[in-house]
Amino acid sequence: MLDSFKVVKGGWVLDPFCGSGTTLLASKEKGINSVGVDVMPLCIFISQVKTMDYNIEKLKEVSRSIFAKKFVAPDTRILSPLIKRAFTKYAQEDILFYRNVVREIDDPIIRNFFTLALIITSEKVSFAYKDGAVIKIRKVKNILPFKPMLKRTIKKMINDLKRFGPKAAQVKVYQGDARNLSFLEDSTFDAVITSPPYLNIIDYMKVYKIENELFFNGSTGQSIHSYIGLSVKEKSDFFTNLKAPPIAKVYFKDMESALQEQYRVLKKGGWIAMVVGEGVFPDRIVPVHNILAKSAQDVGFQVKKIMYVNKRTVTDQNRNKIGTALESVLIFRK
Ligand SMILES: C[S@@+](CC[C@H](N)C(=O)[O-])C[C@H]1O[C@@H](n2cnc3c(N)ncnc32)[C@H](O)[C@@H]1O
Repeated sequence: MLDSFKVVKGGWVLDPFCGSGTTLLASKEKGINSVGVDVMPLCIFISQVKTMDYNIEKLKEVSRSIFAKKFVAPDTRILSPLIKRAFTKYAQEDILFYRNVVREIDDPIIRNFFTLALIITSEKVSFAYKDGAVIKIRKVKNILPFKPMLKRTIKKMINDLKRFGPKAAQVKVYQGDARNLSFLEDSTFDAVITSPPYLNIIDYMKVYKIENELFFNGSTGQSIHSYIGLSVKEKSDFFTNLKAPPIAKVYFKDMESALQEQYRVLKKGGWIAMVVGEGVFPDRIVPVHNILAKSAQDVGFQVKKIMYVNKRTVTDQNRNKIGTALESVLIFRK
């Protein structure tokens, strides 16, 4: 995308729903500056850690000192029932022990690097997995022990950094709301490359409950749904002609605000590439790409292309077919 939009070294790219920072990292790799915005603190944390510059020798030295620490079994009674179900007793002890070791690292940049390693490793040794909107627990027999898994994760993260090498590009990550980017100036960006929340009811705070409890002091902030904002209970007097559930109308209203902000911060001639999926409801499929393309036009964009990249058959709870849901990339130009 960066190539086809002809964004060159020193240019600026925005991802207003940056998640774990894929766009930011891809931009940095090409020497392109980027700004990422997300509502969720965990996403901000991951994006920042992934795009930071590190002293690799220092990371190796700290890694050695972490594994040289003598293990002392911590008290696991402080953990919630969910965490206890999600990990073996050994993993619970290891996670708490290494979490305490990492918390003692003075340099915040290095501490955050190893905290991300702990988050990734915890997910690998967990019985819990994310199934759309919920966390499910499945008992797996051959789950690997935490410590060697942590070693492997850190090694891989350091190798990735080595391979990536230092890059002369700025990356700025903000916790914020894509519907109000007032902290960004008008006409600044060459391109927006993003994947907004899909039209469904995933509550990201619930889905990341384990990570939040273990590594962010249970801090959650406001619950953030996948559809991006307004209360669904609010009476909706927008998209009145659209045959869709209220939650979908709210989603499109939110996306329109986000598109207006993207229009404002893009330079004239700037591009948007947006990956979207259709909204699946028990009785229908809502064609998100068409409705967003119409909104983009209303906001002032030219709709350049709608590329279908994926399709899947969706069924209801009784396995009756609802229809085929498409995933697409929308290309707009200011
Ligand atoms: C589909 S994910 C993005 C995935 C991302 N492309 C990646 O590579 O990880 C959508 C993201 O939008 C964020 N989000 C939801 N509502 C938002 C809002 N109002 N403003 C900014 N970000 C929001 C969610 O926290 C989530 O990280």
